[in-house]
Amino acid sequence: MDRQALVALAKQAMEKAYVPYSHFKVGSALLDQQGRVHLGCNVENAAYGPTNCAERTALFRAIADGEAPRSFQAIAVIGDTPGPITPCGVCRQVLIELCPPDMPVYMANLRGEIQETTVAQLLPGAFTMNDLNGGT
Ligand code: THU
Repeated sequence: MDRQALVALAKQAMEKAYVPYSHFKVGSALLDQQGRVHLGCNVENAAYGPTNCAERTALFRAIADGEAPRSFQAIAVIGDTPGPITPCGVCRQVLIELCPPDMPVYMANLRGEIQETTVAQLLPGAFTMNDLNGGT
């Protein structure tokens, strides 16, 4: 599956967003190693803090469906932003935990712009599992 196709699926997922507060819909599509796609949208909450971004919804959904951590090929995210949408800091931390560091991230908007980066490039100096218990 090419990046255009993955972005198109993320755009479909965007329509499912639950956004009564921001009215800002975001969609995500996560491609696993078997070629399956896990879709996600943002899901907001009256307490604001519990809001889940589209990227994390797709990642957590894939894990809950039995996909192994780091068994993913690519993720696309799309929103109605002036430039390609960029994942928030919390999602970057979750991406570095659950995806290969060199995995492509396709950031898109409704104007047809797509920018490509990697999980590791999104979070230089990330704290990861390798840092835990490092001194013992
Ligand atoms: N949001 C995402 O779902 N993904 C992003 O990459 C950026 C922000 C959501 C969170 C919230 O529901 C809304 O967009 C406004 O911040």
